[in-house]
Amino acid sequence: MKENKLSGSVPRVKGENRNREPSARSRSLGLSGIRQIFERAQSLPDVIRLEFGEPDFDTPENIKQAAVKAIERGYTKYSSSSGIPELRRAISEKLERENKIYYDPKSEIVVTTGATAAIYNALLATLDPGDEVLIPDPGWATYVHAVKLSGAIPVPYRLRKETGFSFEREEVQRTITGKTRAILINSPSNPTGSVFSKDNIQSIAEFAEENDLFVISDEVYEKFVYGNGDGTANFSPAHTGQDAHMSIASLPRMKERTVTINSFSKTYAMTGWRIGYAAAEKGIGEAISRINAAANSCISTICQYAALEALTGPQESVTNMISEFKRRRDLLVRLLNEIDGFECFLPRGAFYAFPDVRATGMNSQELAMFILNEAHVALIPGSAFGSEGEGHLRLAYANSYSKIEQAAERIKKAMHSKLS
Ligand SMILES: Cc1ncc(COP(=O)(O)O)c(C=O)c1O
Repeated sequence: MKENKLSGSVPRVKGENRNREPSARSRSLGLSGIRQIFERAQSLPDVIRLEFGEPDFDTPENIKQAAVKAIERGYTKYSSSSGIPELRRAISEKLERENKIYYDPKSEIVVTTGATAAIYNALLATLDPGDEVLIPDPGWATYVHAVKLSGAIPVPYRLRKETGFSFEREEVQRTITGKTRAILINSPSNPTGSVFSKDNIQSIAEFAEENDLFVISDEVYEKFVYGNGDGTANFSPAHTGQDAHMSIASLPRMKERTVTINSFSKTYAMTGWRIGYAAAEKGIGEAISRINAAANSCISTICQYAALEALTGPQESVTNMISEFKRRRDLLVRLLNEIDGFECFLPRGAFYAFPDVRATGMNSQELAMFILNEAHVALIPGSAFGSEGEGHLRLAYANSYSKIEQAAERIKKAMHSKLS
């Protein structure tokens, strides 16, 4: 066996094939039950799609035009790795005005490839291999993957249906070990649609302080809170009321241990533009920026100009989209509760209904496949979001009012013939 001159390492023995195998890290990610649903849905005719987690609205025209203008003006080069200064300033002003947290645009805000990369960068900036991260169960499936990719260990904490999927401090305290370094929170939540109350957020803050944890707060659905249905209840000035979104970093002493994650994807119907951001106190903020530079150089400059227009331009499209989502939520939840074996609580945020379907006697994967095959409606089994998601289905009401009506009618028929 010869020594490899460049690296000094010993090459793999001929015939071992290890050089052509994907890494153990990539293999640890596995495939989910969602893939099966996607693949089957492609092969069936006339499927109503309620499985996608993205607004069905088009990106507002003023935002598209800002991108066109950016190209015409030649803003087509690399930007600073944290993002163009104008956008970071606009994000800082937004966070101060709406979320009641001041972040210095020079050192505490990093523009990223969507919230997905913001979360991954935040994990890399705060954790070392082998550290444990508490993640919500049920929770967005990507959290498990992001934590694994970062070399840390995901440890699920239960959010129980019986408490409206809220944070239960004693329950979560049991998951703490000497290696726990961070807790990931997501309110409004994917997949449950629940919104943590002010008391809940306060309790998470106390829990994080007491156990000396970082908090990674994924707030991508912050605007999707249906207090008054007109989008005005999202940010009650005093952070009061059941239906106000509250950023945990706005609480005393929390900014220094929190990474606030947000995105343009959901609020401005910009999922394909891939732009979001992380905001954190200087030390962590600069670490996130270094990681972003190493992994991405910077985010598309064109998309950054579009995002600048999203934040500083008219906001009617957001308000209109939120009221339409509320109308659809009310419809879908009412219709789901008329289906045999389904029980659906009223989700106060995001754009997902998460009915309890245990009374059907089927597990969530079987039921999702049954509904897809018999009713031609695509939705996601709750088990895809963690073991606590079992017994539920996730339906995204990111489809038109009439398609939602049709979908519920089809599911009702299929369930009625199955259970009667
Ligand atoms: C809870 C949650 N966080 C983050 C994201 C991803 O957002 P982005 O498109 O900004 O990467 C999603 C997308 O479904 C989500 O549901």
